Amino acid sequence: MKNKKVVLAQRPQGQPQESDFRVIEEDLAPLAEDQVLLVTEHLSIDAFIRTTLDETQGLHGSMELNTPVIALGVARVVSSQFEGLNQGDAVFGPMGAQTHVVAPGAMFRKLDNDDVPPRSYLGALGMTTGLTAYAGMITVGKVAAGDTVVVSAAAGAVGTVACQLAKIAGARVIGIAGGSAKVDYLVNQIGCDAAIDYKAGGVVQALKTHAPDGVDVFFDNVGGELLDHVLDQIAKSARVVICGAISQYNDMSAVQGPNSYLKIAERNASMLGFTVDHFMNDFPKMEADLAGWIASGELRMPEHIVEGIDQFPKALTMLFTGQHMGKLMVTP
Ligand SMILES: NC(=O)c1ccc[n+]([C@@H]2O[C@H](COP(=O)([O-])OP(=O)(O)OC[C@H]3O[C@@H](n4cnc5c(N)ncnc54)[C@H](OP(=O)(O)O)[C@@H]3O)[C@@H](O)[C@H]2O)c1
Repeated sequence: MKNKKVVLAQRPQGQPQESDFRVIEEDLAPLAEDQVLLVTEHLSIDAFIRTTLDETQGLHGSMELNTPVIALGVARVVSSQFEGLNQGDAVFGPMGAQTHVVAPGAMFRKLDNDDVPPRSYLGALGMTTGLTAYAGMITVGKVAAGDTVVVSAAAGAVGTVACQLAKIAGARVIGIAGGSAKVDYLVNQIGCDAAIDYKAGGVVQALKTHAPDGVDVFFDNVGGELLDHVLDQIAKSARVVICGAISQYNDMSAVQGPNSYLKIAERNASMLGFTVDHFMNDFPKMEADLAGWIASGELRMPEHIVEGIDQFPKALTMLFTGQHMGKLMVTP
């Protein structure tokens, strides 16, 4: 049996290009004791992947050249020498960008929830999507009924869930995203009270219009200039939650910090960052809450699925050009 994998051929300068990657076919190694052979079903296209492509250690370490690009995924067990997993089981774990995986079975989590498809564990129930939005909006942001909430990269994976969690909590939610199609998606499909197209300009005025009394919670996925614009408009005792800063990931050697940080002092506000793995002990409760909201229809996760492992590099570039809405995945 053959494996097809996407490796990093050269380190991107700025925005990743498809030519930075190479697709290689190889024979699969026979199974050793405690190993499993998996066939990948879906791979999660996550912003953190970009930070692993640099030579200098970024937020999430640095990957080696000519090895499979780091990626979380869900897969099906083809054969197993590992006691806890059997042929046909669905699993979640660090698959890498490849069609097949041979690795110790202990690296993977068996998925036995028949109520949702396995790929939900990359999206609404996924560590880098649903659980991240939960940790940032509920645990760190302490969103409450009556709050005015702003979410950046709102039409992406984490943003889509963060907006809905704020609505479930009884907040007024304003999403920021690029383009009129995303504004329409946020207001008409995701339930935001308003949405701002940052690519059209006028963000400062739009924030004043939609949040005249200020922003109580800002869930920031973007950083840079957008962070400054929202800081200027925060309310007294606001919580500014730094989930990520995708506008900065293509040049981590020159990260643009906020000019307006003194608003934090002026408005008695707080600015807190987090990484989702810090809340690992809370994952079972978070997952149960998210599953409950999915079942009740209060939480939905639109998906954009790109077909073909060869398209993995293209899908990765889409994160930076904003060509998707909801959860971006590749099915090999
Ligand atoms: N703290 C944690 O533990 C944790 C865990 C997972 C993810 N995250 C963070 O969550 C954020 C979202 O990640 P995701 O995987 O869900 O990706 P995503 O939101 O599905 O995709 C990224 C989105 O960012 C927007 N974007 C890209 N470049 C931009 C720029 N220069 N200015 C403004 N917007 C830009 C694009 O939408 P537009 O069309 O709107 O520009 C794009 O759709 C990232 O910052 C990521 O690092 C943090």
